[in-house]
Amino acid sequence: MINIIRLQKVNSTNTYAKALLKSGEPLVPYTVVYAKEQTEGKGRMGRSWESSKDDTLCMSLIIPHLCKSGVTLLVALGVHKALRDICPKLQIKWPNDIICESKKLCGILTESTNGGTVIGIGINVNTENFSYDIADKATSLKMLTGREYDKEEILREVATCVFDIIDKHNGELTKEAIEEYLPLCANINRQVSWKEYTGIATTVTQEGALLVKTETGVAEIAFGEVAVSGIY
Ligand code: BTN
Repeated sequence: MINIIRLQKVNSTNTYAKALLKSGEPLVPYTVVYAKEQTEGKGRMGRSWESSKDDTLCMSLIIPHLCKSGVTLLVALGVHKALRDICPKLQIKWPNDIICESKKLCGILTESTNGGTVIGIGINVNTENFSYDIADKATSLKMLTGREYDKEEILREVATCVFDIIDKHNGELTKEAIEEYLPLCANINRQVSWKEYTGIATTVTQEGALLVKTETGVAEIAFGEVAVSGIY
């Protein structure tokens, strides 16, 4: 059973969840912080995350121990599982963006603090208009299916699937999890580029790194982002 901490408005559910972990207050297992409105959402690589009050689902799962780096790929698998009945064409863009029709539906930001891990998940649920900067790169469940969704129902399904998959694999990107991840990953067997390099993405390691075959050998990209042609 999940324990939902509901907030009307917060700067960032990840910041709130990290403060809870720092306070040392005992936490009920499977706790999720959910905010109806998030005003300063944080994205990966120091970026910000755009959300609109009624349309974006902003949530942070609290894991009371430190997780290994591969956990973020495991989380992407859990989110994919939760949403694939709604959108059968969902894919994962390494490491953990959930995409559909080459546009981003969901972003995941994993942070650690005080011996615990916070997994922030932002899903564009009922959004119909994005700001100019991301309008051609983002999509929502509503735009993909033409109907509205109850954010709290989606939250329950996503939190349950993510906690389940973390438990099932003990928080590690096991070989079995990698086998599930690879067919869903939009980067695999595609040309990717990062910094001044290009190559063909072949697989991921148990630490969650992307392996890319280049002209000079195999490069291991541990974190960050790679560009995939045709995807935002
Ligand atoms: C990304 O794609 O860059 C990651 C975006 C993560 C956004 C979510 S929304 C809930 C949680 N709180 C935050 O401040 N960020 C994450």
